[in-house]
Amino acid sequence: MDEKLERAKERAWREVAAIDAAHAAAELDDAGWHAAMAALVVPAYLAAPTAEGGSGHSGTAEDWEYSRGIVAAGIAGETFLDVGCANGLLMESVHRWTGSEPFGLELSPELAGLARRRNPQWADRIFVGNALGWEPPRRFDTVRTGLEYVPGQQRRALVTHLLERIVTPGGRLVIGKFNEQVERRSLEEEVASWGFRVAGRAERPQRGEPRIAYRAFWIARVQSS
Ligand SMILES: C[S@@+](CC[C@H](N)C(=O)[O-])C[C@H]1O[C@@H](n2cnc3c(N)ncnc32)[C@H](O)[C@@H]1O
Repeated sequence: MDEKLERAKERAWREVAAIDAAHAAAELDDAGWHAAMAALVVPAYLAAPTAEGGSGHSGTAEDWEYSRGIVAAGIAGETFLDVGCANGLLMESVHRWTGSEPFGLELSPELAGLARRRNPQWADRIFVGNALGWEPPRRFDTVRTGLEYVPGQQRRALVTHLLERIVTPGGRLVIGKFNEQVERRSLEEEVASWGFRVAGRAERPQRGEPRIAYRAFWIARVQSS
């Protein structure tokens, strides 16, 4: 295994792999998996000295614009839901980039509280809940998520749930941004193998590690479904 490459894809990859292995071995149930993942990220996000750090980004504000900026290409319609909104910075950025009206969903009540304090004008648009199974008070034209927010065998169910219950008919589900080795669109291929048609994508090379790309892709929800 190329550790530099693994780190470039996911900084906490070793810890995440251990949590996934414990879940696969039934040493952790679903609640235990979410609690272990939250223990890994939430204290670090809450203690981060920068706004970017409070959303899990270790680089500069300029790096944030470069890497997270690809999400803007996937935004359509008036309303945007950021699943896993952390401290709300991506909500703010997407609003600035596209003018869309942002909403957020966050598993951690502490992070949702931080997002509300940073954006009191949107306090009633920031919800606490687990994306898998969450029943929204309304639908959203664009919903963004990461598939790493649920255990591996629940990722297909997450995509189905978000598309069927949370995206507006005619809207879209954006997956990303994630980091991937450039030569293969592995995540897109996996999602396509579940029967979803990828409608568009955006990507940029990672600066400093050109073997890795920042990627996002999206799936359209058909009008009639
Ligand atoms: C890396 S941050 C993403 C911040 C921002 N949305 C972005 O893309 O830059 C991921 C956030 O997702 C939250 N999260 C993880 N699993 C979740 C789930 N199943 N439902 C809702 N939020 C979740 C975590 O608590 C964390 O704050």
